[in-house]
Amino acid sequence: MTRKLLVTSALPYANGSIHLGHLVEHIQTDIFVRFQRLIGNTCYYMCADDSHGTAIMLSAQKQKQKPEDYIEAIQKEHISDFNAFYISHDHYYSTHSKENQQFSEEIYQKAKEAGAIKTKEIEQYFCEQTKLFLSDRFIKGNCPKCNEPDQYGDACEKCFHTYDATELKNPYSVYSGKKPVLKNSVHYFFDLSKFKTIIYDWVKEDHVVQAVKNKLQEWFDMGLKDWDISRDAPYFGFLIPETQDKYFYVWLDAPIGYMATTKNWCDKTKKEDFETIWKSGDFEIHHFIGKDILYFHTLFWPAMLHVGGYQLPKKVNVHGFLTVNNEKMSKSRGTFILAKEYLKHLNPEFLRYYYASKLTTGLDDLDFSCDDFTNKVNSDVLGKVVNIASRLAAIVHKYGDGQLTVIPDSAQKMLDKIRERAEKIAGHYEALEFNKAMKEVMSCADVANQFIDSTAPWAIAKTDPVQAIQVCTAGMNACRYIIIYLKPVLPQIALGIEGLLNSNSLRWQDLTGVIENSLINKYQHLASRITVEDVEKIIAT
Ligand code: 2FM
Ligand code: ZN
Repeated sequence: MTRKLLVTSALPYANGSIHLGHLVEHIQTDIFVRFQRLIGNTCYYMCADDSHGTAIMLSAQKQKQKPEDYIEAIQKEHISDFNAFYISHDHYYSTHSKENQQFSEEIYQKAKEAGAIKTKEIEQYFCEQTKLFLSDRFIKGNCPKCNEPDQYGDACEKCFHTYDATELKNPYSVYSGKKPVLKNSVHYFFDLSKFKTIIYDWVKEDHVVQAVKNKLQEWFDMGLKDWDISRDAPYFGFLIPETQDKYFYVWLDAPIGYMATTKNWCDKTKKEDFETIWKSGDFEIHHFIGKDILYFHTLFWPAMLHVGGYQLPKKVNVHGFLTVNNEKMSKSRGTFILAKEYLKHLNPEFLRYYYASKLTTGLDDLDFSCDDFTNKVNSDVLGKVVNIASRLAAIVHKYGDGQLTVIPDSAQKMLDKIRERAEKIAGHYEALEFNKAMKEVMSCADVANQFIDSTAPWAIAKTDPVQAIQVCTAGMNACRYIIIYLKPVLPQIALGIEGLLNSNSLRWQDLTGVIENSLINKYQHLASRITVEDVEKIIAT
């Protein structure tokens, strides 16, 4: 039975460029999405820019632009960067949309009717230099638990402790660097504890991995706190109904953006019905996020969906952070690598493969190392995969006019060995164990290369071209299987090999067939080897 899935990546903020850290997630999501489509499932991939909040408002002001114009330009840039990495969103929208406003108000009203909204006067930090209340991301200080310096006002990146900004030690305003003052203001709160059973039951089921369950248990043990969902004017966002100067906190309408994007796409394309996707249970909802935004997606989000009458996510998949040469990405070290900078020097599919070879279901950080990247790309993508196609196509054209013949009996075992890995590889893709999937695929490529090397068709061709072409026919079939396995990761190289083989767009089910007696095209360049120096160019000096 085929499944229907709606998949999302976290929505990037509309005030900065896409960098290699974002791409860990978008590549991970895209590989999963492409795999689902390849095996015949219906799979839609929705994403958008997260366009609200103080940071965006101030960035627009700095550029002397209206926030609407500012976010529109950034959205275009984001879309172009994602396209360059072959991220196959079905729709890329913005949280600053009429649909998002409607859904945000609807969920808020329903929460209000359920008695889950309350107001409280709170004391909050205020930056006197800029005359702004400081939201969590604009105040920094030492973590109240582990004392790590320069932590944001909501959670510690080192020990993951969550807290209120007022608990930070040595607080300072991110805008001015100065110590803020405390000021009173009425805020709106979402009473999370009302949804404890819903969240608790959801977590018990299989929607997150064990490491995430453990983290959630710690939060449950600490008690579910009220969530402050309002921000004072000036703010770029949606006004809270029946107020004059209170806005929804960006984190309220951000995840609702997943729904708003779907709604806009449904209305535009008429491909699916919005309510069927988000309410009927016919679709599985899969979110991909980084471990820093777990709290929002596994506590607030299920509660908001529940109170709004929407279905809860089937999976919240969580990945770790990207480090570069084993250190946190840093502007001063030149390792804060933008997608655009990478693209100036390197092939986007190499990054897709490199990440795939390292991604697991775990929350561990993933390291980008220049040496490792160079070795993996050269040895696996070029040496093991592209090489089969280029070597064999040349022989088939030189000695057989580009015509494949039949697979010799001596090659059956080799092809069976490759084909019989299909189920295992599919299981790894489904489970997001891409590193294991890549290991399996590369061991298939080893099997194919050993066969080719030991039969040496380039040598046989001189005396027995018929046999040589049969060996090449078998090798090309091996290559075809391998590229089916790799299609979610290397969509462009796959397209090139499909072109070489004169093949339709390959599907997973094509693993059951073979190609014989068909014409192939001449090999067209697919990718080039790289040196460590090429890779080091992406690190600014
Ligand atoms: O952390 C971030 O980058 C947020 N912009 C992610 C939002 S994800 C979703 F909730 F919109
Ligand atoms: Zn800490």
